Amino acid sequence: MLDNKPPVLTIDGPGGAGKGTISRLAAGKLGWHYLDSGALYRLLGLSATEHGTSVDDETGLCELALSLQIRFGAGQDESVYLDEREVSHLIRTEQAGTMASKVAAWPGVRAALLDRQRRFRQMPGLVADGRDMGTVVFSDAARKIFLTASAEERAERRYKQLIAKGIDVKIGDLLADIQTRDERDSQRAVAPLKPADDAVVVDTTAVSYTHLTLPT
Ligand code: C5P
Repeated sequence: MLDNKPPVLTIDGPGGAGKGTISRLAAGKLGWHYLDSGALYRLLGLSATEHGTSVDDETGLCELALSLQIRFGAGQDESVYLDEREVSHLIRTEQAGTMASKVAAWPGVRAALLDRQRRFRQMPGLVADGRDMGTVVFSDAARKIFLTASAEERAERRYKQLIAKGIDVKIGDLLADIQTRDERDSQRAVAPLKPADDAVVVDTTAVSYTHLTLPT
């Protein structure tokens, strides 16, 4: 059956597997739009912290999710704005990731962010990066990738990134954070982290990104 919906390439997987890097690269090469769905949950987590909304208050979080004023930089510009305030660095901390994963576990929150994510599907196409892009949000996408790597490898990559930025961290703490987040994301009742049945699973544990070839 022919439909006129813009094409979507979904790239799902656990945190630190390189989805962001690969998705931006793919979007740039294809000239498509890019959705960083994790940033939406991170922004909601930040907004909840700033408004004093508890991570246990599903109703309050849903209201916040519906009213979030957010904006992303265009193209390769990775800036993210909340209420026109640049919060790009604030949402990238480990704490922001943990907060995001807590608010993301609520079914109501996920439902509240669904339309907002689907509105990114515009011509000429969309590369959508997240946990449930291929299973829920764009389940009709023609191309789905599930990008993964061992927790140890992901912790080591993150460690190197942070040390290079002069941020002092312990690799054991990073590994523990990653494992806790993986478990919360995989065990939740709604839209858990898992490959779509029709996804191509790519394990990058032993691969540097420069050796990956994306499907054409
Ligand atoms: O991808 P990123 O690390 O920015 O995602 C932060 C958190 O947001 C994840 O740990 C996950 O709990 C949540 N998330 C989600 N569904 C998505 C994207 C992210 O639940 N599609």
